[in-house]
Amino acid sequence: MKITIRQMRLSDLDEVLAIESYSFPTPWKRSMYEHDLLRNPYARFFVALNEQDEVVGYIGGWFVYEECHIGTIAVRRDLRGRGIAKLLLRHVARQALREGLDYIILEVRVSNQPAINLYRKLGFRQVGLRKGYYTDTGEDAYLMMNDNLEELAAMEFEGVSTSGDGEEEGNNQRSGGQPASG
Ligand SMILES: CC(C)(COP(=O)(O)OP(=O)(O)OC[C@H]1O[C@@H](n2cnc3c(N)ncnc32)[C@H](O)[C@@H]1OP(=O)(O)O)[C@@H](O)C(=O)NCCC(=O)NCCS
Repeated sequence: MKITIRQMRLSDLDEVLAIESYSFPTPWKRSMYEHDLLRNPYARFFVALNEQDEVVGYIGGWFVYEECHIGTIAVRRDLRGRGIAKLLLRHVARQALREGLDYIILEVRVSNQPAINLYRKLGFRQVGLRKGYYTDTGEDAYLMMNDNLEELAAMEFEGVSTSGDGEEEGNNQRSGGQPASG
C-alpha cells in the first residue's frame, strides 16, 4: 500500500472526525482540531492518505521546546494492522529531528494493548504511570517516551511505503494543547 503523509488541513476534518468518532471513548470535537490547525503555533498535525486521497489515519502533537508531545493518533478501522501508524510516528520523528527536538512523549491507556505494542515496537519505553489520567473513565495512563529519534526516523517497515515524507513547514510554530485523547 502506498501512503502519502502531509499536514492536516481543515478540509480533512470530516474524514478525521469520522475516524475519531469510533477510535476514542471521548472523541475530540471539531473545534479542538480547528484550534490546533488555526491558532496553536505549537501544533503539528498530519494525515496519511491512500492512493485515492482518502484520509486513512492521522497524528497530532505539540512541539514545545525540546519535547514532542503526541496528543492523538488513529487509523481507519478497516486499514489497521498494515503499518500506517508506524509511518505516522516515524514521520513525526523525522519532523521533530528537523526542528531540533530531543524526544517524543505520550500517554496511553493502560488497557490499550495495540497502542502499547505499537509504541514499544518503535522504541518507546514506559517512564511513568499517571493515575486516573483519563477523566472520562478514570483509567490510568502509561507515560511512554522515545529519546532516540534518529533510530525511529530511520526505521524501515515492510508492506507499506510512503511518499511526501520530505520537509514539512509544521502547522504553525509552537503552545499548550488539548488533553491527550489517548
Ligand atoms: C493504535 C492504532 C493507531 C495502531 O494503528 P495501526 O495502523 O493498526 O498500527 P500498525 O499497523 O502500524 O501496527 C504497528 C504495531 O502495533 C502493534 N499492533 C497494532 N495493532 C495491534 C493489535 N490489534 N493487537 C496487538 N498489537 C497491535 C503491533 O506491534 C504492530 O506491529 P506489527 O504489525 O509489526 O506486529 C490503531 O489501532 C487505532 O487507531 N486505534 C484506536 C485509536 C488509539 O487507540 N490510538 C492510540 C491512542 S494512545
